Amino acid sequence: MLFSAASQPSGAPVKSNSFNFPEALAEKYRPKKISEFIGVTRAKKALAKLAAAPYPSSWLFYGPPGTGKTSMALAFAAAINGEIHHVPSQKCNVEELDKVVKQCWYAPHGGTLHVVIVDEADKMSFPAQLAFLSKLDATGFPPATIFIFTCNSTSGLEPRFLSRTRQIEFSLADFAADIEAFLRKIWKLEKGEGKPNFARIVASSQNNLRDALMKLETDLLAGPEEYKEEVKVAKPVLAPVLVKRVHRRETCSVGRAAALKAWETRRANARKAA
Ligand SMILES: Nc1ncnc2c1ncn2[C@@H]1O[C@H](COP(=O)(O)OP(=O)(O)OP(=O)(O)O)[C@@H](O)[C@H]1O
Ligand SMILES: [Mg+2]
Repeated sequence: MLFSAASQPSGAPVKSNSFNFPEALAEKYRPKKISEFIGVTRAKKALAKLAAAPYPSSWLFYGPPGTGKTSMALAFAAAINGEIHHVPSQKCNVEELDKVVKQCWYAPHGGTLHVVIVDEADKMSFPAQLAFLSKLDATGFPPATIFIFTCNSTSGLEPRFLSRTRQIEFSLADFAADIEAFLRKIWKLEKGEGKPNFARIVASSQNNLRDALMKLETDLLAGPEEYKEEVKVAKPVLAPVLVKRVHRRETCSVGRAAALKAWETRRANARKAA
């Protein structure tokens, strides 16, 4: 058997962590605290302050994939002991929104505030964006609620929607060295054998930490991937021929000129001697 299904009656809904198998690296090493994130300095600073004194507000985390937007929203919710309402983009229609926001008018279960996380907000329907306009206005804003939207790009979002959110950019572009050190640490903790090319993993992942962890996970299972030297692109066949022809023509003309000069010198010398 691949993994143990201890105490799971067959056919019952699977409870998370009820199976005994190792976690994916991206999950295992997902930062749980705001301070644990690599890079994203402005986000860490702003959210640590907000967590110390939270107030109803709406935020938009935007930036490339695998830079920690969703993880940061979850870490923030954990920091304030908030009640999380997670809305994936495919479900972000007016009906779903109304349902979630209605719950936010009641006191949060056990926690301090409601934290509504809307992932891939740029994919939400236009009517859903419009519906949010009134909910994010002071008159319709549910009490004790923080909205966090995440997206890769703000270009698909309504300007009126954008102007109702505080925006924080997520990027790991300047943190390649930190990502490399992080991968190195994980490799050691996971007792990886061999030496992966960490710098190469970071570069080929384009600073997408999720991608980098996926690559590292494959290396842990299959052994470090050998990166071959880059193959140089061959020059087009025609170019050298043309160059050669031009070169030959030049050589010919240079040769003829030299011969002419030599003949003139010889003739001048002969006249002088006569
Ligand atoms: N800044 C970071 N510091 C540490 N780990 C990170 C960071 N960013 C991403 N990760 C790792 O990558 C995984 C994926 O991150 P996350 O899902 O938060 O990215 P995202 O920005 O929401 O991506 P997407 O735009 O694709 O939704 C996390 O589980 C975590 O392991
Ligand atoms: Mg995300």
